[in-house]
Amino acid sequence: MLRDLAILAVLAISPTISWIANKEFLLEQKTVYELLRYIDQPEVSGDGSYYELGMSYEIEKNIENYNDEECVRSFLARYKKGMQPRGKVFSPFYSELLGEAIDLFRVFLNAKDFETLNKTAAWARIHMNEGMFAYSFSIAVIHHKATRFIRVPALHEIQPHLFFSETVIKRAQEIMWRNDISSSHISPKGYSVIPATYGIRRNTKNYNFDEEEQRLNYFRNDVSLAEAMHYAHLLRPFWLGSLEISDDVLAAWPPRGETFLWWQMHTLALYNMERLSNNLEAIKEFDWNYPLPYGHYPNASYPNGCQFPSRKKRSRIPNHLFPLLQKVRDLESRLSSALDTERVMDTDGESRETYKQAYVELLGNILEGNADSINLPFYGTYYVLAKHILGCAPRPKTKHTPCPSTLDHFALGHRDPMYWSLTQRIVNIYHDFSSHLCTYVYEELVHEDVVIQSVEVEPIFTYFEDVDYLVSTGLKVPNGRDEPVVKVRQCRLNHLPYRYNITVKSAKVTSVWVRVFLGPKYDFNQMELSISENYKNFLLLNVFTVNLENGTFTIQRNSTQDYTAVPEDMSGDSFYEKVTRSLRDINDTFEMPWYLYTLKLRNSIPKGRIDGLPLRLFVYIGSPIDEFIHTHLPLRKSITFPLDRPLTVDPARLPNAYFKDVKIYHTERSKIKHKTRETN
Ligand SMILES: *[C@@H]1O[C@H](CO)[C@@H](O)[C@H](O)[C@H]1NC(C)=O
Ligand SMILES: *[C@@H]1O[C@H](CO)[C@@H](O)[C@H](O)[C@H]1NC(C)=O
Ligand SMILES: *[C@@H]1O[C@H](CO)[C@@H](O)[C@H](O)[C@H]1NC(C)=O
Ligand SMILES: *[C@@H]1O[C@H](CO)[C@@H](O)[C@H](O)[C@H]1NC(C)=O
Ligand SMILES: *[C@@H]1O[C@H](CO)[C@@H](O)[C@H](O)[C@H]1NC(C)=O
Ligand SMILES: *[C@@H]1O[C@H](CO)[C@@H](O)[C@H](O)[C@H]1NC(C)=O
Repeated sequence: MLRDLAILAVLAISPTISWIANKEFLLEQKTVYELLRYIDQPEVSGDGSYYELGMSYEIEKNIENYNDEECVRSFLARYKKGMQPRGKVFSPFYSELLGEAIDLFRVFLNAKDFETLNKTAAWARIHMNEGMFAYSFSIAVIHHKATRFIRVPALHEIQPHLFFSETVIKRAQEIMWRNDISSSHISPKGYSVIPATYGIRRNTKNYNFDEEEQRLNYFRNDVSLAEAMHYAHLLRPFWLGSLEISDDVLAAWPPRGETFLWWQMHTLALYNMERLSNNLEAIKEFDWNYPLPYGHYPNASYPNGCQFPSRKKRSRIPNHLFPLLQKVRDLESRLSSALDTERVMDTDGESRETYKQAYVELLGNILEGNADSINLPFYGTYYVLAKHILGCAPRPKTKHTPCPSTLDHFALGHRDPMYWSLTQRIVNIYHDFSSHLCTYVYEELVHEDVVIQSVEVEPIFTYFEDVDYLVSTGLKVPNGRDEPVVKVRQCRLNHLPYRYNITVKSAKVTSVWVRVFLGPKYDFNQMELSISENYKNFLLLNVFTVNLENGTFTIQRNSTQDYTAVPEDMSGDSFYEKVTRSLRDINDTFEMPWYLYTLKLRNSIPKGRIDGLPLRLFVYIGSPIDEFIHTHLPLRKSITFPLDRPLTVDPARLPNAYFKDVKIYHTERSKIKHKTRETN
């Protein structure tokens, strides 16, 4: 299909595209949205037709509509024995529950066509645990060939209770039930709005929190950031082998192990710049044998009333987790012996040399503990295990009644400060590894024909703005009535788009790759950082190619074109309405937006300070021949080249590299409007 080819080509260099969707596609898109609404009320959705479909459908009688019948049979056998009941909490961090979810996912993935997928999902929506259904079905939609480019709804629209406090959800629920929007604030567009705050926790006596850590509440509770974390998992679930991962995901991203490491480094660099913005100290390290440095009190509960577990500051790992603790220590020692001996053990007991660029992928796979790990039995699922232990969830009374911690959800883990201590540990392992690789020599870094003469950046302004999040699609609706649209309004960090110009002098007509990084200028003690340490703290904002002419040339960029982040999604209600409208009206075409599931542009810049947070842009221009951000090309460099290894060449010696100081100012929205008017 021409459309698909074009999309893949574009995805390799730009994370967003759009095209005119045809009716068949739109109907399927509408179906996926309807299936993932009101997941805890099987009898509701659209006109109730899914319920009829699901009740009358029998997987066993239609087994010829699945590719791998054996796999479907083994799911049915397990189902008959009993799986996680409806109404209970689901988390993929409990092996039994994950096993069930994977079995369900395989049934979806084996559906031969969309019709079968539709029927299977309608069935599962009634018979399976709702959290598990949403999890397995969302992953199936992303990876199934019959649902290419179909979007899954945002997680907060499916399971709003993961994002907003009990009080807020209760208020939203009341409005839904009474269908009485007059008791709430109505937006000009006609939906009810419920204000939500992040809530400052002052109960320090009982829980012993670090109050200053709460300065980061805007970051930790950011819905889009949480969803980016969630999608990072859905795109490449650790338990899914790369053979089963959708070709589109493989084409759009670097290989999975490298992407895992990159994602850890990218989010950590962002988090550290948020800490700098808020005058917080560096992330504290932890040791499994000692009390954990941070506590965490989520103050949220699951729809079935079970509270998210909390952990006091300086608590130790509870006794019931000791067997897992032993395991995670073993895995860490295997890993460090692999790094020390420069040998990794594969499943045949053969050892392999480690310190080569190609082994970045291998290291990433081992650390994530994904299905492509070179030796899963030996190196285990480190990342998942470590997060589960740090969450300190209580021992479930039965296998069906877990009470997962925030760390037991891919979307929520980063709310717990221990998440970042773990991320830092993983990133340190990578840097330890990369310090053993040969450092790049001058000849590898220089591009003789290109001189960056100057870089000009506009000051960057951040501000808080109100955003309305659709929640009514995840709450209980009175059957058979028009559902009122209810949204939760929360203030979110955003920034004005900023422009930058890179003036380049080229000695010939050539096309080059440009990379733009953002990093701190000073450390947590206000000391200026030298690049030999600081290279670790930079995050990649943009990668793009340009054709240079002979002579001097100014590359003009706008931050909305950044590679690593995408525009905001359309809210689920408007998206759904657009889809249904263009299905009804033949003349009403819908330009289907399609973005990579990743960070939103809003999340790509730290908050900064009122008096300006000093940061640095690093611009690097390299030749395009031997580097290309596309998978599976033999001669590719890391996406963060040249900052993926210790920098021993002084960038000042490189004509094709340039540092530029930039300040991020945090300010009030009203003042910014004034500023934009001034500059325009
Ligand atoms: C899926 O099934 C529902 C319920 O029968 C139906 O309304 C919908 O049109 C189906 N979707 C597709 C794409 O066939
Ligand atoms: C938890 O949240 C509720 C409201 O959402 C608030 O009243 C309560 O004080 C919070 N508890 C703590 C310990 O902060
Ligand atoms: C970039 O160059 C254009 C055209 O010369 C100019 O209008 C704009 O102000 C420049 N932007 C910056 C940030 O210097
Ligand atoms: C580039 O331009 C300079 C002078 O403008 C000229 O001397 C040189 O030959 C040109 N190089 C190429 C490759 O065209
Ligand atoms: C940046 O680009 C976007 C979209 O192309 C545009 O809407 C916006 O006005 C631009 N901003 C600036 C400051 O040029
Ligand atoms: C679509 O447009 C055509 C030509 O403008 C018009 O004749 C037709 O009535 C329109 N159809 C609908 C459903 O509006």
